[in-house]
Amino acid sequence: MNILGKKVVLRALEIEDMPFLKDMVNDPEMEKMVIGWSFPTSTKQQLMWFDKIINDRLNFRFAITYENKFVGVSTLTEIDWKNRKADHGIKLHSSTPKGIGIATDAVYATMKYAFEELQLNRLHGSFLDYNIASQKLYEKCGWKQEGVYRQSIFKNNAYHDEFPTAILREEYLEWKKNFLKQTE
Ligand SMILES: CC(C)(COP(=O)(O)OP(=O)(O)OC[C@H]1O[C@@H](n2cnc3c(N)ncnc32)[C@H](O)[C@@H]1OP(=O)(O)O)[C@@H](O)C(=O)NCCC(=O)NCCS
Repeated sequence: MNILGKKVVLRALEIEDMPFLKDMVNDPEMEKMVIGWSFPTSTKQQLMWFDKIINDRLNFRFAITYENKFVGVSTLTEIDWKNRKADHGIKLHSSTPKGIGIATDAVYATMKYAFEELQLNRLHGSFLDYNIASQKLYEKCGWKQEGVYRQSIFKNNAYHDEFPTAILREEYLEWKKNFLKQTE
């Protein structure tokens, strides 16, 4: 079942998406902005990664499509089925238009699936101290900052603070009422 936002569709990743995804993973600007890190990734490693994740039911990775084009990924990982919570992440390719609400809508679609279908109760994520786009995105989506992990992430020869952020199911349901009222 594909997951519908207002303007994006979340679908399963396809093998044809792998060159685009490899491009994203190897983009130094992307590496600078995300909490995670990776070694330079080859085509073969990208395909092996795809084989490994394809049937993983604790870590979902959805392709975000906008105007029928694959533009990025939205993830629900480390799903804890007992405590009903998961980690969320999002990445848009450098060529994807920014600031027009694609990520907001993808986060909405991901929350809708997590809270209204998978019956999760909490989603969490985090962003780097200088990732203003990510901070704004999660605030706009109703998430609340939950403190700070000091000097948690080493990138570009310096330690950076990491800000954990989260949303509960009840908060999502309130936020959604306003989000659905808004006109594009
Ligand atoms: C973070 C990211 C997903 C945002 O995507 P996006 O589609 O541009 O986000 P949206 O258009 O939905 O915007 C969400 C909010 O963030 C703001 N925003 C987006 N980019 C911004 C920027 N560069 N600087 C300041 N604010 C920004 C938007 O203005 C909007 O807030 P507003 O409506 O109150 O003005 C995208 O920039 C990205 O993929 N970055 C690289 C990977 C990354 O940082 N992932 C998150 C890791 S935690």
